[in-house]
Amino acid sequence: MVPDILARNLRWLRRASWLGVAVLLIATSWSMARRYFSSPPDPRTEIEGAAQIVSKFALVDQTGKRVTEADFDGRWQLVYFGYTNCPDVCPTTLAYLSSVLDRLGDKVDRVAPIFITVDPERDIPAAMAAYVAAFSPRLTGLTGTEDEIAKAERAFRVYSQRSAAPGSADGYEMAHSSFIYLMTPKGGFEAVYLEERQTADEMAQEILMRIGRGG
Ligand code: NI
Repeated sequence: MVPDILARNLRWLRRASWLGVAVLLIATSWSMARRYFSSPPDPRTEIEGAAQIVSKFALVDQTGKRVTEADFDGRWQLVYFGYTNCPDVCPTTLAYLSSVLDRLGDKVDRVAPIFITVDPERDIPAAMAAYVAAFSPRLTGLTGTEDEIAKAERAFRVYSQRSAAPGSADGYEMAHSSFIYLMTPKGGFEAVYLEERQTADEMAQEILMRIGRGG
């Protein structure tokens, strides 16, 4: 009697543990498959629909003058979105952009570097003027109303999000995508860069290659 019960229990235990392993396997592959197929890309590091990106904006430059993309017609545009109170990524990216410009030689005049704020509330033209001057005399800083900035962000498919940040200036920060866009002289999409992906030398060489090919 006793050994019989024991044997039955053992059999049941074995079956139960195999079942457990099977359930675990199915659950793991299901969650991996879900993560692989359905998770949205991180809007700060992934780019979707690059072909639809166009340079289109009506904004105000750091001198207070109203400008649109047409003011940069005929020049390649290097466009970066950020804000002057950004604690880390913006200053390093703009310093990087400035060293890329330094490496373009006499082709530098064919490129218009443009910094567009995602924080128009604080980044009035005077704030932009002081900020861009710290990086490069070639850099144009653009701001506008909330609505104008939102339109420019949509044209470049830029993501930005205000969030409370106690301890930082005015108690908020702006999360934002940190792509550098290279746009053609007609304002179409050419390429996108992230600062940490290549050295300033490599990016300059790439731009020179594209400028040479694009005539
Ligand atoms: Ni930033």
